[in-house]
Amino acid sequence: MTNVKEMEKSFYKDVLTGLRSVPKRLEPKYLYDYRGSELFEEITKTLEYYPTRTEMRILKKELNSISHYIGDDAALIEFGSGSSEKIKFLLHHLKGIKEYVAIDISESFLLQSVEKLKKEHRHLYVHTVCADYTVPFSLPSLKAKKKVLFFPGSTIGNFDKQERKTFLNQMSTLLTKGDGFIIGVDLKKDEKLLHSAYNDAKQVTRAFNLNLLQRMNRELLANFIVENFEHKAFYNHEEGRVEMHIESLKDQLVTIGEEEVSFQKGETIHTESSYKFSVQEFQNLAKEANFIPKKVWTDEENLFSVHYLEVKA
Ligand code: AVI
Repeated sequence: MTNVKEMEKSFYKDVLTGLRSVPKRLEPKYLYDYRGSELFEEITKTLEYYPTRTEMRILKKELNSISHYIGDDAALIEFGSGSSEKIKFLLHHLKGIKEYVAIDISESFLLQSVEKLKKEHRHLYVHTVCADYTVPFSLPSLKAKKKVLFFPGSTIGNFDKQERKTFLNQMSTLLTKGDGFIIGVDLKKDEKLLHSAYNDAKQVTRAFNLNLLQRMNRELLANFIVENFEHKAFYNHEEGRVEMHIESLKDQLVTIGEEEVSFQKGETIHTESSYKFSVQEFQNLAKEANFIPKKVWTDEENLFSVHYLEVKA
């Protein structure tokens, strides 16, 4: 299991490696400190950010069908915040869920949101696992007959090609024949919609991205002057992904701990990719990782998809 303390230690190392690479990059998982997780929650409520709303609509509309796939004695294992409306909704309406496991990278955020859940669902066995799910970890022992992983929000889109392959393979090894995987996947669509989803008018996405500079200031004694940088997000058609960057507005030198990193005007730090898929593209990926695509639910506008996969063997 990944210990989060170890991860904090490697933040400094990863930052220096990432900012000395050409082009500069930082792993998207570092966007999610406590403040980053709060800001992400805020993004999901902006007018422009359709994925969360749309996925929720799909879950509501397809509740009976989802219930059929989950069965009557399941442990739902969630990767992510542990606080979303989606999980509250499923736990409230799907009586077949007897056990719940929340897995999140941000310990404080996780514990806070799970406390609330425990109060609201006193009959439910609740487990928490504080882990970085992009590297191998194990599950606590569970009582329920069937395990169903739940990975909403199209977080799979934040993994690069190799990472998503590794992740899906790893997920299939956590499961045994007949267990399931409910996964939300954002669909390819009109570029204008994508552009505004990552450039919202209230600039919450901007704050979310630039919080990474503040996080480095807070945790690594860096001296980024946030006003000297700007949020930049656009759809890269060739790669089929929205890219989020932090752009340097001038030539400047930044101190991080005891090291210095130079930035040229216009140079960017690539902080996140958000890949978009067609239903077919995603089902092909799932098949390569030992899953059988059993069902896909989408909204009327084909903005978002929710897949039910079953593990083969
Ligand atoms: C968590 N993840 C799926 C979000 C996304 O859309 O890629 C993160 C995000 N970044 C900017 N806005 C939202």
